[in-house]
Amino acid sequence: MGKSYKIAVLSGDGIGPEVVAEALKVLEAIEDRFDIHFDFEHALMGAVAIDQTGDPLPPETVEACLRSDAILFGAIGHPKYDNDPSAKVRPEQGLLALRKKLGLFANIRPVTTYDSLLHLSPLKAEKIQGADFVVYRELTGGIYFGEKTRSADGQYASDLCAYSVFEIERIAHLAFRAAQTRRGKLTLVDKANVLETSRLWRETVRRMSAEYPDVEVDYMFVDNAAMQMIQWPTQFDVLLTSNMFGDIISDEASVIAGSMGLLPSASIGAETSLFEPIHGSYPQAAGKNIANPVATILSAAMLLDSLDLVEAGDLVRQAIKSSLDKNQCTVDLNADTPFSTSELGDLIASTVREAVAF
Ligand code: IPM
Ligand code: MN
Repeated sequence: MGKSYKIAVLSGDGIGPEVVAEALKVLEAIEDRFDIHFDFEHALMGAVAIDQTGDPLPPETVEACLRSDAILFGAIGHPKYDNDPSAKVRPEQGLLALRKKLGLFANIRPVTTYDSLLHLSPLKAEKIQGADFVVYRELTGGIYFGEKTRSADGQYASDLCAYSVFEIERIAHLAFRAAQTRRGKLTLVDKANVLETSRLWRETVRRMSAEYPDVEVDYMFVDNAAMQMIQWPTQFDVLLTSNMFGDIISDEASVIAGSMGLLPSASIGAETSLFEPIHGSYPQAAGKNIANPVATILSAAMLLDSLDLVEAGDLVRQAIKSSLDKNQCTVDLNADTPFSTSELGDLIASTVREAVAF
């Protein structure tokens, strides 16, 4: 028996358990094919954890994550909390606390287009064909984690946006290095015409650019970037941005790919890293076996890359591409002859297990 890895599995809420189950099938196929072993440890987070323990992030979950080599996560959130602004505990607090506790400072969200799916995007195929970029979103700072206040009479609220040079530099180094291995272009997305934190981002990235002469850097205000991403997405290679801007522009970017159900992400920390689809818990689809598992399976491929199993990660990506090319897709991408969540997972897992070559 080859090498063994500990994987913490947090299925979470809504469609989370269904899409994670398919990613686990694919990882099991990788075990067989590459003679490695994954030791999966399941733990609770989100609404399901509140229901069972009262805590969206129970201490045992943090411990399971800390002793893991990588974490696979599904989705978080439940409508019963969304419509109740007075709720004291919210599922999302679990994910935010986990990001902070594990120091998952860089969220990497690659956006790729598949020629066979171009017609499914609401954008014109000729505009998006060949779009291939990656968003580096800062994940443990900014307005998400700044001081929050609410006045005693409830009439006033504030959220502080704060960044240090250290926080900017550590993710910027990752983004510069990614650009070096890609097409050599880095776009900093900010609001430096208005925000002091954005001016600090710009100053820091400009100074750092001297260390990376092979990377061409440009700077774009976030409102303009939101527009350019739809108008001319092929201009981007690596986008670097703060926590909230990254949250927003990466959802926008999913329109280019054709479905939210296609985009994976990696959240990188010093000790361990977490892999999750960018989509949410999609409660309307929960339990129906219709959710698209591809984003989670692609997240599992990024997990494999992070364990230096890049060949295995590539195999998973090729297996996905081969099914998408044949229109073997869930209902979000193929309304006429859809595969169910589990059928698509089975198909991708068996391709991974059996494919001779692509
Ligand atoms: C995401 C999600 C989270 C975020 C929510 C669930 C807290 O939208 O991962 O993009 O805003 O970061
Ligand atoms: Mn989001």
